[in-house]
Amino acid sequence: MSRPFLALLAFAGLATAETPPPMALPATAVNEPGRPKITFSQCHVEGPYLALTFDDGPHGTNTPRLLDMLKQRKVKATFFVVGQCVAEYPEIAKRIIDEGHEIANHSWSHPQLTKLGEGSVTEQLGKTHDVVRQTTGVTMTLLRPPYGAFTPNQQAWAFRKWGYRCILWDVDPLDWKYRSAAHVKSEILGHAGPGSIVLSHDIHKSTIDAMPETIDALLARGLKFVTVSELLAMDRPKPPAPKATPAPKPAPPSESTAATLPTSTAKP
Ligand code: NI
Repeated sequence: MSRPFLALLAFAGLATAETPPPMALPATAVNEPGRPKITFSQCHVEGPYLALTFDDGPHGTNTPRLLDMLKQRKVKATFFVVGQCVAEYPEIAKRIIDEGHEIANHSWSHPQLTKLGEGSVTEQLGKTHDVVRQTTGVTMTLLRPPYGAFTPNQQAWAFRKWGYRCILWDVDPLDWKYRSAAHVKSEILGHAGPGSIVLSHDIHKSTIDAMPETIDALLARGLKFVTVSELLAMDRPKPPAPKATPAPKPAPPSESTAATLPTSTAKP
């Protein structure tokens, strides 16, 4: 897939993420050639690996139910937790770690971070960073901004300050909107594949209800679940697309043939 297409996909993910924010979001392509990649919507991997991610918890009843299902199937997932929920359910946060899952930062109280000043963003991410470290002993390395909203400057800043890589997604069942297990299952099964980062929310009962059949169907396809950090470690540059044959007649040199990223594809 071309870079412009990937950027469009990433934006499509943002435009439909969670409850739509009231303002258009900035483009998120902060990755620059020759620099470490710090933002991911999906990975390119050479095996059948993908990552399930669950946002907005821990939730008092739905998260433990999900953990039981994952344990039964020996499946690992990544939980993007809200700090104030970790403070409310520290035992569940500990259980996430004890059972081999990854825990990552989803802010303290789920605001749209692009609307806040640096001091407030520092507080949102820093308080969550600290409560997770105090509760579980884990120093988190991944961030998912609420609504996927985080400017390129904020992404670079959070990477410098905490070493956070910014994790978006390429599969979004819109489970916050459609509280239907059948819908969640069919959307995930219709779009997930190797390298996918699947977005869901462990605060919704319907999402948890969808998981046994969804996970079993993906396992039956030969797919294997890893944490986001494990998936990132497998990420490889995508090989260039094969050239069309027969080769087209070479075009004369032009200054405008280079592919360019879309700059303002924002939709309301
Ligand atoms: Ni969220």
